[in-house]
Amino acid sequence: MADDKPTLFSPYKMGKLNLSHRVVLAPMTRCRALNGIPNEALVEYYTQRTTAAGFLITEGTMISPTSAGFPHVPGIFNKQQIEGWKKVVDGVHKQGGLIFCQLWHVGRASHQVVYQPGGSAPISSTEKPISNKWKILMPDATYSSYPQPRPLATHEIPDVVQDYRLAVINAIQAGFDGVEIHGAHGYLLDQFMKDGINDRTDEYGGSLENRCKFLLQVVQAVAAAIGADRVGVRISPAINHLDAMDSDPRSLGLAVIERLNKLQLCYLHVTQPRYTAYGQTESGSHGSEEEVARLMKTWRRAYVGTFICSGGYTRELGVEAVAQGDADLVAYGRLFISNPDLVLRLKLNAPLNRYVRATFYTHHPVVGYTDYPSLHKTYERLSRL
Ligand SMILES: Cc1cc2nc3c(=O)[nH]c(=O)nc-3n(C[C@H](O)[C@H](O)[C@H](O)COP(=O)(O)O)c2cc1C
Repeated sequence: MADDKPTLFSPYKMGKLNLSHRVVLAPMTRCRALNGIPNEALVEYYTQRTTAAGFLITEGTMISPTSAGFPHVPGIFNKQQIEGWKKVVDGVHKQGGLIFCQLWHVGRASHQVVYQPGGSAPISSTEKPISNKWKILMPDATYSSYPQPRPLATHEIPDVVQDYRLAVINAIQAGFDGVEIHGAHGYLLDQFMKDGINDRTDEYGGSLENRCKFLLQVVQAVAAAIGADRVGVRISPAINHLDAMDSDPRSLGLAVIERLNKLQLCYLHVTQPRYTAYGQTESGSHGSEEEVARLMKTWRRAYVGTFICSGGYTRELGVEAVAQGDADLVAYGRLFISNPDLVLRLKLNAPLNRYVRATFYTHHPVVGYTDYPSLHKTYERLSRL
């Protein structure tokens, strides 16, 4: 009897999108869009990672001039940026791939001198800065302390929602198949959701209802502009990156999910702390690995639509997650940096290139970006020896 259980390599229908497999390119900041404009290097990078009917998510993309906190990240709020993205999207579509743009506002994870227009303080839910445990990467490759942010006034929040709405319209104009709202990893929307950061006394602070409100308003505005079936959301209730601690991540995740369930979005994407081989996390742990795995299962069961998981997935863990029904799709980050043909390698169970952390955030258009060899290139080289 044929085994019709899904595998990491079986097709999947995500709303209107027919995917040929379940391996997703996770959103990853790569700092190669010089001055915020996607260029030929990005075209090469994304097309290298495209498979026919495979699903890609772009790096975090600035929705407005106040939203940057890394050097040379792309934006989607002006004409030049839209034109730059069009070339990337065309390249991906020509090879039959599907691509969503990740919409990003870093909030307080910025720096007034180098990333904010007019030297203004970065915005947040709070006036508390990110602690000295974390450092911000400056354009000259040095690291600095995070500055004191300015809490958004209640009446300013609709303006930021409007920035998301305009960005999503631009994304569709650039040809993207949809967008992912970045509600994870201690950036602006997470700064409102987590009770370890949000100390507001207005309608955006206090109860879970109030802390989820900003994210919900953004998602609703974006869905109204382009259709809910073109919108995904990324959250990380159990990740404390940039001090984004919550006293009850389980309830926070469930509160967000309960609300998103009503909107029939394209997908929910949940990241968990990224375990290395030694049980350490890169972004700070939040409970044990078993606890996090339990939480992921709880959220997966609670969410009614497509569930994407991310964070420390190897081939084995990805295969297992889909086979056990713990996720519909698995997003791969670092392994996709160093293996442009990751999907093929995972299918063949072929050896993987190791990633070089030192070039994750450098700005060279090729080195550490598009020069990781494909299997094809490696065999060609070996056959010449
Ligand atoms: C270099 C780098 C940049 C990243 N940038 C982003 C980003 O822009 N947006 C985001 O949501 N996550 C970002 N992440 C997190 C990844 O999407 C992913 O969740 C994480 O790397 C864990 O998956 P992995 O273990 O497969 O690498 C980044 C990770 C890395 C390594």
